[in-house]
Amino acid sequence: MPHDPVPGLLSRATELLEAEFATLPAFGGPLPKAAMEWVLEAVASRLRDNYPYFHPLYAGQMLKPPHPLARAAYALAMTINPNNHARDGGRASSEMEIEAVRQIAAMFGWGESRSKYLGHLTSSGTMANLEALWVAGQLAPGKRIVGSEQAHYTHRRISAVLKLDYTEISADRHGRMSLEALEAELRKGDVGTVVATLGSTAIGAVDPLDQILALKQRYGFRVHVDAAYGGYFTLISDSLAEPARRAFAAVGQADSIVIDPHKHGLQPYGCGCVLFRDPAVGRFYKHDSPYTYFTSKQLHLGEISLECSRAGAAAVALWATQQLLPLVPGGAFAHGLAQGRSAALELDRKIRGDSRFQPLATGAPELDIVVWKIKADTVGRSSQLAQEIFDACAARDLHLALVQLPLTWFVDSTGNADRIDAPLVTCLRSVLMKPEHEVWLERIWDRFAGACAETMEK
Ligand SMILES: Cc1ncc(COP(=O)(O)O)c(C=O)c1O
Repeated sequence: MPHDPVPGLLSRATELLEAEFATLPAFGGPLPKAAMEWVLEAVASRLRDNYPYFHPLYAGQMLKPPHPLARAAYALAMTINPNNHARDGGRASSEMEIEAVRQIAAMFGWGESRSKYLGHLTSSGTMANLEALWVAGQLAPGKRIVGSEQAHYTHRRISAVLKLDYTEISADRHGRMSLEALEAELRKGDVGTVVATLGSTAIGAVDPLDQILALKQRYGFRVHVDAAYGGYFTLISDSLAEPARRAFAAVGQADSIVIDPHKHGLQPYGCGCVLFRDPAVGRFYKHDSPYTYFTSKQLHLGEISLECSRAGAAAVALWATQQLLPLVPGGAFAHGLAQGRSAALELDRKIRGDSRFQPLATGAPELDIVVWKIKADTVGRSSQLAQEIFDACAARDLHLALVQLPLTWFVDSTGNADRIDAPLVTCLRSVLMKPEHEVWLERIWDRFAGACAETMEK
């Protein structure tokens, strides 16, 4: 584990923050330091039971370590522990949330002033999507929500919670929403909202948002973009393949957007974000809180969000990170995304060059997630080998992930060598989210090759 810079980063800032409140009378007795240290040692030992998410050899699920600055800013804010429900609970951090969200909105081309959109942070992508679908349901009561079968599973569940009908639209071999299937549903005349996913959870597929928006002209519906995973790729959309580039170019025309700073935005968990193009949807949130909203006539973020208490520290950490790494094309943050993507393209190239594996038939990954199937006589054997390789990699400290995908998505999957005895096949999956993955790719491949030799040649 690299030496943690956070305690060092915090010492000066903690002194400064303490000095800000130095005029208050002292209070509190001595802390049971020895006992606290003992408990913390126990915590450190308990935390060993984790995969090393912070390390480049962790290349499995969507897990990206928060930036040290984000961790330091979060910890510093913890000495105040602000609550961004109301300015009464978090004055500075509410202001920092508004500024940080404005920068995210600007990344999608939405107005500099908040009166041109409505947005706030949430505790997760799920909560952010819930707010977007809740507003969608208010605007089109009795109408259906539709999303691709590759959309995040929570859309169906959120719709059930909101008592909105939800229909799955089939996906094509790219993992993108099928436009033919979508149009067939639209013709029925009762679709209120289409959820377009920019960066699907399984393979990072980008739904054809530009074409979905064209259908909106004809059929009239609301478009919600779930960019919880892929949203930041808008900063490097010029380097993506044409279909994804066109989709990202159209994001600003969506009615609502969700993006998760706690996925690709270098933030600790507890940081999602929802944006609405029309600030007038704020009327749906209208409520009275007899306990709060007293110290300021300015907007309290609880007046425009469904959650009540929210971590002000999450906003502080995001604000700090975006000061250091502004959300601009060509900046250091964008470069970090490009490095992960370049690692993914390189891994995909190596997979394609090795006859033991079957890559996606449709070509290179759209973002930074690579999936591949193991060639075998049967689907069952292929799935079993994927599991064994996954375990053998883990024994070498290389952590990949598994995913079940339609067999037909893979190169040669209908050939003689692969009798179809199951529609889904378990595949290997690697989410290459860390900038360091670019320079670590050779070492990742070496360990993977070792695991394959052990598993496939026995
Ligand atoms: C595309 C997409 N949407 C929504 C979510 C849910 O986000 P969260 O886990 O922050 O609730 C995820 C999580 O992986 C996701 O990939």
